[in-house]
Amino acid sequence: MRVVKTVAELREAVAAWRRCGERVAFVPTMGNLHAGHYSLLQRARAQCERVVASVFVNPTQFGPNEDFARYPRTPEQDRAGLLAAQCDLLFEPSVEQMYPYGTAAAVGVHVPVITRELDGAARPGHFDGVATVVLRLLNMVQPDVAVFGRKDLQQLMVVRRLVADLALPVQIDAAPTQREADGLAMSSRNQYLDPAQRETAPLLHRQLQSMRGAALDGGDLGRIESDAAAALATAGFKVDYIEFRRAEDLARVAASTRSDLVILAAARLGTTRLIDNIDV
Ligand code: PAF
Repeated sequence: MRVVKTVAELREAVAAWRRCGERVAFVPTMGNLHAGHYSLLQRARAQCERVVASVFVNPTQFGPNEDFARYPRTPEQDRAGLLAAQCDLLFEPSVEQMYPYGTAAAVGVHVPVITRELDGAARPGHFDGVATVVLRLLNMVQPDVAVFGRKDLQQLMVVRRLVADLALPVQIDAAPTQREADGLAMSSRNQYLDPAQRETAPLLHRQLQSMRGAALDGGDLGRIESDAAAALATAGFKVDYIEFRRAEDLARVAASTRSDLVILAAARLGTTRLIDNIDV
């Protein structure tokens, strides 16, 4: 596996593969890789001859009071894991490579409407940072396929919209959420949880499952949402949102809707913010 830090080296490696007619799949990450990330690598490997991963903790997608400084950085462990996962090239850019004019003066991209609510409301500016860095990464790597996890469902949909609206020549592939044995969605942030919080955390997924059951039994969606939020609050979560939405575009739905639904949730245990979602 080659490890490169500059766009020039990255481009040269990708161009050499392209001259041999090889297709390139890309997995963008912020590092601290776990089984969820490696499942993205596996999907990438299954679709193309060459796989590029990036590790870049993107400052522009963190709010001023968020965990950018303490976000876990484990470069040696990530390199070893990517090598074992048969990644061909790891792109580890500096902030200066990604944002040559600085983050404050960077050209940004805003994806409207779909970023207004849910995490867009709870984390103002977050999706501008995500869309901006993803556009930059896609321009740098120019992959045939880029793989994103469904755990960050709103992010996935923002990326799909970005790619469709700007006619970017890349196919976006969505990978299912990987879970721990107790149902907790895998996330680098799970390691912030103390033992008691870790025991409580799977309740988020269990609530989503019982909401699905209640919706399929014909319950009122608004009532199901408020009961779930109350149950999570009683267990010690601070709930940002737990809502039924239209799967196609995350629009709000009428309380009687039963088809094409997803349930998305974000809630904090202490200072750790967990997100999850399931289809109905
Ligand atoms: O999902 C992530 O890890 C990040 O949001 C991404 C897509 C790598 C952009 O920084």
